[in-house]
Amino acid sequence: MRPGLQRGEDGSLYWEEVALEAIAARFGTPCYVYSRAVLEANWRAFGQALEGRPHLVCFAVKANSNLAVLELLARLGAGFDVVSGGELERVLRVGGDPARVVFAGVGKSRAELERALEVGIRCFNVESGAELERLEEIAAAHGVQAPIAPRLNPDIDAATHPYIATGLRDSKFGLERRQALHCYRHAAAAPHLRPIGLACHIGSQVLDLKPFRETLKYLLQLADKLRAEGLEVEHLDCGGGLGIRYRDEQIPATAELGRALGAVLDESKTPHPELLLEPGRAVAGPAGLLLTRVEYLKETTAQRFAIVDAAMNDLLRPALYNAWHEIVEVRAPDPNVLAKPEQTWEVVGPICETGDLLGSGRRLRPAPGALLAVLDTGAYGAVMASNYNSRPRPCEVLVDGTEARLVRRRETTEDLWRTEPHPPKAPGRKHN
Ligand code: LLP
Repeated sequence: MRPGLQRGEDGSLYWEEVALEAIAARFGTPCYVYSRAVLEANWRAFGQALEGRPHLVCFAVKANSNLAVLELLARLGAGFDVVSGGELERVLRVGGDPARVVFAGVGKSRAELERALEVGIRCFNVESGAELERLEEIAAAHGVQAPIAPRLNPDIDAATHPYIATGLRDSKFGLERRQALHCYRHAAAAPHLRPIGLACHIGSQVLDLKPFRETLKYLLQLADKLRAEGLEVEHLDCGGGLGIRYRDEQIPATAELGRALGAVLDESKTPHPELLLEPGRAVAGPAGLLLTRVEYLKETTAQRFAIVDAAMNDLLRPALYNAWHEIVEVRAPDPNVLAKPEQTWEVVGPICETGDLLGSGRRLRPAPGALLAVLDTGAYGAVMASNYNSRPRPCEVLVDGTEARLVRRRETTEDLWRTEPHPPKAPGRKHN
């Protein structure tokens, strides 16, 4: 069983001390449910892993940008990694400290750069020469200095899904070594730029410590070179990417990542720069689950389908990356049902695409109306939801001990066309 999740004596699943059945009855399904305790424990593990060394942990807002989640982390002193103006505004909205925000992304717009400069973020992780030029021009126009860290593409294989590997030579991310050095030197000489660090993010759902060690070594070596030229490097940002156990993956603990990075730093002869990390999934992933209800069971000669009320618009990961999320029955089947053998089910949603599935080949004993929990969906779950098939996006609930609080209401039908100008209803027809 996952941290925070337990089966009560009544045979029903509890997330912290709240029965998931009670949440479904109160808020409906599909519904994302987050555990404050798990989120906080995962967050604190990063601080503990780097204790005793200068560091800043910046939560990757893209993993879960719910204001309640961000507020909770901001209260714990979190830094934030943002990749858009929208994410920056969310951080500011919950009182997050802009001086602890790093801004990555290959396509930062003029407006986004201006706003981030205006609020005084900690660092722009610059991904191209053209971006640096634009930033310099804006900073000059405003008479300020922009703090920057070139983001490097180290050509390190994170051995993950190709869509989420970002550190290979042919990816759109980061700068090649030569270009990064050029940016750093240029920024050091430019009155409106201030180079403060070097950054990397090699990919996501990384299962092994080796790529992290290599990344830090790569950055240290570059920092040495710059220092030899008389240029200071205050921080090294190793990005995010630590994987989580979705199925049976062997994942190093956060503490092990801290030890591995610490060992690399200790081996290097140069003064230790501040270490930045940008975890998203490892903090939020295991802290969330998606509650969904079985609508119908359908058996064909080829397959058994459990058709549930959540779909790829609610949770895109299985459809997009062929990702595996554990699916469990919220109420343990009663003894009569348990006596029957488990069968293999395709857990699918109502969307009109064959790719709309949440889990394939699952050993379950589903019944119509039964509640299922799709686990480890706290990261890249709700944030990737859409209105495809004109389905309102699900609600989000935060559990804290015995309390459950709605932190995003379910969208209504009206919400679906809120931003679309539309003609008045045709006269003479009643739509109630
Ligand atoms: N920093 C940067 C610059 C990133 O691009 C990312 C993730 C992170 C940090 C956080 O990585 P994490 O610790 O969460 O692995 N939608 C995909 C994941 C995309 C990740 C993109 N970048 C998924 O559902 O697996």
